[in-house]
Parts: sequence; C-alpha cells; structure tokens
Amino acid sequence: MKVLILPDEKAATQRAADIVARTVTANPAAVLGLATGGTMLPLYAALVQRHRDDGLSFAQTTSFNLDEYIGLAPDHPCSYHTYMNDALFSHVDIDRARTHLPRGDAADPQVASDEYEDLIEAAGGIDLQLLGIGQNGHIGFNEPTASLGSRTRIKTLTTSTRRANQQYFASYEETPRYAITMGVATILASRKCVLVATGAAKAEAVARMVEGPLSAACPASALQLHAKATVILDQAAAEGLKLTDYYENVHPQGQDSVFD
Ligand code: GLP
Repeated sequence: MKVLILPDEKAATQRAADIVARTVTANPAAVLGLATGGTMLPLYAALVQRHRDDGLSFAQTTSFNLDEYIGLAPDHPCSYHTYMNDALFSHVDIDRARTHLPRGDAADPQVASDEYEDLIEAAGGIDLQLLGIGQNGHIGFNEPTASLGSRTRIKTLTTSTRRANQQYFASYEETPRYAITMGVATILASRKCVLVATGAAKAEAVARMVEGPLSAACPASALQLHAKATVILDQAAAEGLKLTDYYENVHPQGQDSVFD
C-alpha cells in the first residue's frame, strides 16, 4: 500500500487529480470506478478544471460508480446519479451512455446488482477505482462485517452511516436504509485503487485501514490485499498512523518514490 501524506486537503485533492489525469492521458479509453461523498467533490472540481484549462478529455472513458441508494430514482435530488451529474458528468465531455451507476429504483435490486457485475466484466474490468472511506471503515457501502469476498449486492446501512449522510436528506427517517454497492471483492478486482481521506474525522478509520489487522470489521483494510492501492491523505487524516516516518521517507511530501 502506498501511503501519500500531503500537507492539506487541497494538495491531497490535486495529487489524486494528477493520478486520474495520468491514467486517462495514458489510456483515453480507461474504465474508471467512481465514488461519491463530500471528499470527492473537490477532486471532481479539480478534474472539471483540468478539462476546461488543459483539455483533459473523458470522451472515450467508461465509468462505474460504487453504489446507489435503494428506493431513489436517478432523477431524485439526493441520488448518486444526481450527485455525479452535478459534480462531474455535466461539466466534462464524458459520453453519458458509458457512465454507469446501480439502479436504486430497480424492480429487483439483486438482479440489478448481478447485471452490474456483468457490465463491469463486459467493459474489461476497472482500470482505476476511486474510493473514499466512511468513519466506520466502510468502502462503497460495504459496512463493517461485509464479506471480503462480496460482489455487487444489497447492503443495509448502519445507523452511523445514515447519520453521517443525513445532512443530504430532509431527516434521518428519510435517509435510505439500503443501498446497492459493489462488493469488497469487486473493488479488489480493479487494476488500481486510489483512496482519498481528508480531515480529522477519518483519522481513526485510516489507521485501522492501513496499520490495523485485515478484518471485515474494517472493510477498507481489505486494500492491504491489493497489489496497487494508493492512499492519499491530508495531515489531519494521517494523524492516527504510527509509521508516518516510513511513509514520509518513501514518499516525501506525498510525492513519487524514486522507483515509481
Ligand atoms: C458514503 C459513500 C462512500 C464514501 C463515504 C465517505 O456513504 N457511500 O463511497 O466514501 O460515505 O463519505 P464522505 O467523503 O462524505 O465522508
């Protein structure tokens, strides 16, 4: 696991944007795995800016989002479909026909989940998967105790996740209880993973992910099994780590090592 510690959120965001831009420039038809949440908003803003200023093109890319709330139609204002349209898709040249999110309003969410796995496979798998992390160590909506072998399926959200996401809904009661999410094994099957965590509220989860035991109790710890996982942190999110000296030694200021 590459641990890159950047001075602040802005620098962490730019570092993540550099990796996405490099991936898309090297392979314009890259398959991107996309994430939602507050952490990703400045990253998408940075990508939109690079599209406008530097001509970074998503015209040939394909995308698959991690998750969607069950019960929300794509045009629901709080759906992840709407989030992606507002944060990224409407502002870049991506072909909407090649953007994918699970359908929260599917008649049979499990069938929709299986079909989603098939679509990822048909696209040739995910080249670069972006991830955030929940305060309880979730990735996508794989809550603590999620099987490390799981594939896209229905998950029940924890009270803490619903409370964290309540800010986007009118009330706690209206915050969805269920989601369709890529599984931990779906995420691990991507060729590269880049997880971004910023702010002190993520410090404990980050420490468990990077230095804790591999355990379904912290689904993000499964990234320890991934051969090409990069974790991009700001100082605040890195606060709970014990081996910071080593990470700084390998990647001073979060930059590439001599062998990268
Ligand atoms: C949400 C999403 C995750 C996201 C996480 C953190 O519930 N399903 O994909 O990484 O929680 O969100 P935030 O970045 O807002 O802290």
